[in-house]
Order: sequence, then C-alpha cells, then structure tokens
Amino acid sequence: MPSITVAASDDEFSTIAADQVQRLLRTRMDSILALPTGNTPVPLYAELSRRCLNEEMSFAEVRTFNLDEFVAMPSEHPASFETYMMTHLFAHIDVDMANVHMPDGNSSNLEQECRAYERDIAALGGIDLAIVGIGGNGHLAFNEPGAAFDSRTRVVDLTAESLEAHASEFGGLAQVPRRAITMGIGTILEARRILLLARGREKAEIVARAVRGPITREVPASALQSHPNVLVLLDRASASQLHGMR
Ligand code: PGA
Repeated sequence: MPSITVAASDDEFSTIAADQVQRLLRTRMDSILALPTGNTPVPLYAELSRRCLNEEMSFAEVRTFNLDEFVAMPSEHPASFETYMMTHLFAHIDVDMANVHMPDGNSSNLEQECRAYERDIAALGGIDLAIVGIGGNGHLAFNEPGAAFDSRTRVVDLTAESLEAHASEFGGLAQVPRRAITMGIGTILEARRILLLARGREKAEIVARAVRGPITREVPASALQSHPNVLVLLDRASASQLHGMR
C-alpha cells in the first residue's frame, strides 16, 4: 500500500515534494530522476529552482529522464514537453544538459528511439526516484487505460481525454499531436522510489480509484499499489474522496 501524505497548503505541498528530491540528492548527488510535465509539478519545480538558486541544493551531477513527449512536433514548439521543462526547471537549475534525457518524438526511427531510451536508463543503473502525475483518466505518464503493467518505453495513441486535456496549449483539439512516446508502466515500476503528485478536486475520484480501488489496467496508476516504495502526495482537494474507501 502506498504511503499517503496530504499537504495542508500549496507551500507545504511543494516543500514536501522538494524535500523528497533534496533528501535523495544528499544520499547520492548523481541520482537518476524521472520527471513529469503538466500543471501539477509546476510549484515543485519552482521550489527546486529556488533552492538551487539559494545554493541549498545542486543538480550538477543529477541525471534526468522525462516521462514522455509528443510525437512529430518541433521540440521548440511552445507546447512541447521540452519547452515546458526548460521554462519550468532546466533554465533555472545547474543541471548539465548533457545529463538531461527527453524522448525524441521527432526521431526518424521511433522504435529505435524507444529502445535506446530504455537502454540509457538501464546503463546508468536505473531510476532512483520517479516523480509522476496522474491523468483524469488514471493515466501514468502517457500510459492510457488498458496499458499493460509490464509495458516499456514505446509510441502510444493518445485517448480523447488526454487530447482534450492538452487542447488549450495547442490552440485547439485538432492541433494536438495524436501520438506520444512514453516510458512504460513497467519502466516506471522499476524505479527504486516513486512520488505520485496530484492536486485539485478534479483528481479526487481518480486518486481514490488509483490508490484504494482494485488494481486494474483500466486505471493505469493503480499499478503503483504493487510497488513497495511509493509516496502519494496530495492536496486536500485531491484527497477528498479517500475517506470511506477500504
Ligand atoms: P496535470 O497532468 O498535472 O496537468 O494534471 C497530469 C497528467 O496528465 O499526468
């Protein structure tokens, strides 16, 4: 069963999440992180940037792997996850960009790109801490409902709900790329520790299903229940439907 922490405020949420990263880097400066995009981690990235600026922590030796990226869109596109990561984190911390890994959705050989991503993670010794969000449909990275729990990094078709969730960033549903590269659920489950972040009332029902409901492929994030070292960090709104469940 994952541990659950409910933060009382936005500040506490980002402090607890950033503490998780800082504590890990204290034990190993060259830790390997898997990093999410989305609205949820924005305050965490701001807090990590602040701590780095204040020289409370350093990412100089950290290696990072992003969870996912859209296929066939320019990496400099304002809605690409690469742009997101530069804007919210990488431009503000002392990470060596040579140690930053993002799936290349523009690769001319996507299958090979996915295999290389897995190989790079394995070659560095595996992920120490995977920070993940949860989609309104329960997706974990872009592992949409139905994804196998032993899936690896691969190209996936996005569901209507995920396309909808990104429509505003792209100026309309029609502009959202239909496919993405995502780390697999199996890849994520091999991380030594996992930090699941969720904020907001619109995540309350899916959080309850993922954390307390049956383990099922229909709710990809429910796979985390089988991992021995997971912290689920919630705000009060996203935790509001946990009561009364088994
Ligand atoms: P969000 O996305 O943080 O923008 O809600 C989470 C996700 O889709 O995994």
